[in-house]
Amino acid sequence: MSAYILFSGSSHPSLAEEVAKFLGKPLGKRFIELFPDGETKVELQEDIRGKDVFILQTMAKDPDHFLVELLLMVDAAKREGAKKITAVVPYFAYARGDHRTEKKEPLSAKLMVSLLETAGVDQVVAIDLHSSQMEGFFSVPLIHLTTRPLFVDRIKKEWPKKNAVVVSPDIGRIEMAKTLAKELDASFGMVVKERESAKKVIAKALMGEVREKDVFLVDDILSTGETIRAASKLCREGGAKSVVALVVHGPLVTPLLEDDTIDKFFLTNTIAQNISYEVSVTGLLGKTICQLVDVGNSPSKKL
Ligand code: R5P
Repeated sequence: MSAYILFSGSSHPSLAEEVAKFLGKPLGKRFIELFPDGETKVELQEDIRGKDVFILQTMAKDPDHFLVELLLMVDAAKREGAKKITAVVPYFAYARGDHRTEKKEPLSAKLMVSLLETAGVDQVVAIDLHSSQMEGFFSVPLIHLTTRPLFVDRIKKEWPKKNAVVVSPDIGRIEMAKTLAKELDASFGMVVKERESAKKVIAKALMGEVREKDVFLVDDILSTGETIRAASKLCREGGAKSVVALVVHGPLVTPLLEDDTIDKFFLTNTIAQNISYEVSVTGLLGKTICQLVDVGNSPSKKL
């Protein structure tokens, strides 16, 4: 294995510590502070010339700040002569901005990728990006990980129920829900959702049979919780026996609550939360870093 160093940004230190523990080596020393005027100061306090550098930074809770911090760390590593720089970004902010509408919006997802590439990343590791079309925005190799097997393992252990249906809460999660349904030997359904505003969604109709079934609602992001709650309500009205929500990323802006409509949440730790995580991505990231260090340059791939 060649020499490599894992640095952590300040967005999710506990995940970085866990990954470092998995790898059996300490995190690289660095110093990060805010100047009084709000700008970010970064120092990488290791000898990194000629080394493989991994920088773990999730972009949630304060995404703009953590993006800049990551860009500065990448720039510092590049200028210090790192052999290869890998940004490990468990939650990639702005990924929902992967297309333009008639509202004269930016192509935010593409811009985020361009910023990272301009700063000097040689490859990026991301987890369950909002859409696979975003892969086309990357010129450098992208290692696009999926948490699906983690959820499948967990469900098979804890909810070994036979009469299940996997429901997509909107059109965007159809592929994910269909694949999961196949892997869980369950049927498939979907909700027709309309978003009125950033904070309000309406679940208009439910397609598929949920009566007397255990429903697994799958989504990539839980932000206000509106999407999952609206879909869950519709499933309950359709006669669902139980509703379990499976969500990858939780940049929650409201507290996560198991309420009348949702029996249980399974959420990963791609973003720091004040709750006990249900599904950990530590091993997934640790194994991926090991593989990347072993194989050297890797083509874009889905692990
Ligand atoms: C939308 O396309 C995403 O896949 C999620 O459904 C959405 O971001 C969830 O947001 P919220 O929890 O605010 O409804």
